[in-house]
Amino acid sequence: MAKVLIVYQSKSGNTEKMAKMIGEAVEGEGLHVEIKIAKDTTPEDMRAADGIIVGSPTYYGVMGGELKYLFDRSVAVHGKLDGKVGGAFATAAVSGFETTIRGIHDAMLIHGMVIQGDPSGNHYGPVSIGEPEGPERESCRRFGERFAQLVMLGCGTK
Ligand SMILES: Cc1cc2nc3c(=O)[nH]c(=O)nc-3n(C[C@H](O)[C@H](O)[C@H](O)COP(=O)(O)O)c2cc1C
Repeated sequence: MAKVLIVYQSKSGNTEKMAKMIGEAVEGEGLHVEIKIAKDTTPEDMRAADGIIVGSPTYYGVMGGELKYLFDRSVAVHGKLDGKVGGAFATAAVSGFETTIRGIHDAMLIHGMVIQGDPSGNHYGPVSIGEPEGPERESCRRFGERFAQLVMLGCGTK
């Protein structure tokens, strides 16, 4: 069974809630999901997954330091994530969530990962301003289902 790793950083719980919502949607498509905080995640965890979803609070318009540190350490598996499916989501208090997501995408693209945009809704990935309690649930569901479908097409399993 294909495996999806969801890695997140969260201090006040907003990003964690989205990670769980997305995890439920991916699981609903029949994939195995592992949800981990960035500090407990290793580059080897990334290598072992077929798809990797990264969620971050917006910290000055970019991903949180714990996630950046994971990407810095991921040089240990450089070349081994090529072709895996990647995706990102972010929370913020006001704005900056799209630059946060795009920064995560940049790191994933340099690893050779495959990222799917969305022509409707949140184009880059699910976002929430504050607590994800309204339409975010639907965007997390949509993102998780589309992500799982891409993994099931065979991406990530080379
Ligand atoms: C150090 C720091 C920097 C932040 N920078 C921004 C920012 O640039 N823009 C913004 O809208 N919110 C910013 N925030 C707010 C968080 O992105 C927001 O509260 C987020 O939802 C927190 O996620 P969490 O509940 O998962 O910890 C910042 C918060 C902290 C602690």
